[in-house]
Amino acid sequence: MSRAYTPDDAVLLVGEGNFSFARSLIENYLHTGHQVVATAFDEEAVAIQKYGEAEVGENVQYLRDCEALVLFGVDATALGQCKELRGKSFTRIIFNFPHVVGAGIKDQNRNIRANQQLITSFLTSAQPLLSETEAEKQGEIHITIKTKAPYDAWRIKALARRTEPPLKCAISFQFDCKRWPGYEHRRTLGFKEGLSHRDNVEILDKDPRTYVFTRPSEEEEVEEKIDGKRGKKINEGKAWEGSSDEDEA
Ligand SMILES: C[S@@+](CC[C@H](N)C(=O)[O-])C[C@H]1O[C@@H](n2cnc3c(N)ncnc32)[C@H](O)[C@@H]1O
Repeated sequence: MSRAYTPDDAVLLVGEGNFSFARSLIENYLHTGHQVVATAFDEEAVAIQKYGEAEVGENVQYLRDCEALVLFGVDATALGQCKELRGKSFTRIIFNFPHVVGAGIKDQNRNIRANQQLITSFLTSAQPLLSETEAEKQGEIHITIKTKAPYDAWRIKALARRTEPPLKCAISFQFDCKRWPGYEHRRTLGFKEGLSHRDNVEILDKDPRTYVFTRPSEEEEVEEKIDGKRGKKINEGKAWEGSSDEDEA
């Protein structure tokens, strides 16, 4: 069961945009960054170009002042290749609003499959970094996504069951921006004046939800294998029709 963040949590954030979520996490819950690693996929110059020098610079400075480690150019699907993460483990690994880079995939089914692949590869890559000490400190992976169409077609819980080894969704809950003062959601493509919106307008009406993934117990693993044999299938984005997710890209 997920619990509130506490200063003894070791937290890895991946896919940060302007680092405002990492900052909010420290400001409001952890009060220190000494066990926080905040990462972005973009290199620093690209992140500044996308989200602005002021936004990225101030947040990163805050994080570093709090002793957090800030890394650019970290691929969430290949965390094992990041040398700064070697030997570290985390009680929480967080990816907020994952969305593939290189938007412009106009074919919505391909778009869904690309995002499913991103999430599956992230879950596989993150697992070895999860802490496994006492039960209450069991490592958790938190993924927050919008849940309205077409995001519902991502079938995120089913994706987790298919990672190797499989993960279970222990709980999910509404992502409430009010719990994250200072957090400013950003799109993968960056902030575009006249197109993008501030104050999290782009997520507020999309029913964002946080899914908490953990390793299943041995009994749960056995049940899962039996269910698997019964032939549960997931939608791989082959038969999707509906609105576009270009707003996120
Ligand atoms: C919609 S934005 C959300 C940004 C930020 N997490 C937020 O909540 O404002 C999606 C993010 O996923 C990141 N992303 C896409 N592919 C990634 C990958 N392979 N590894 C890490 N991040 C990735 C993008 O760089 C982008 O920052």
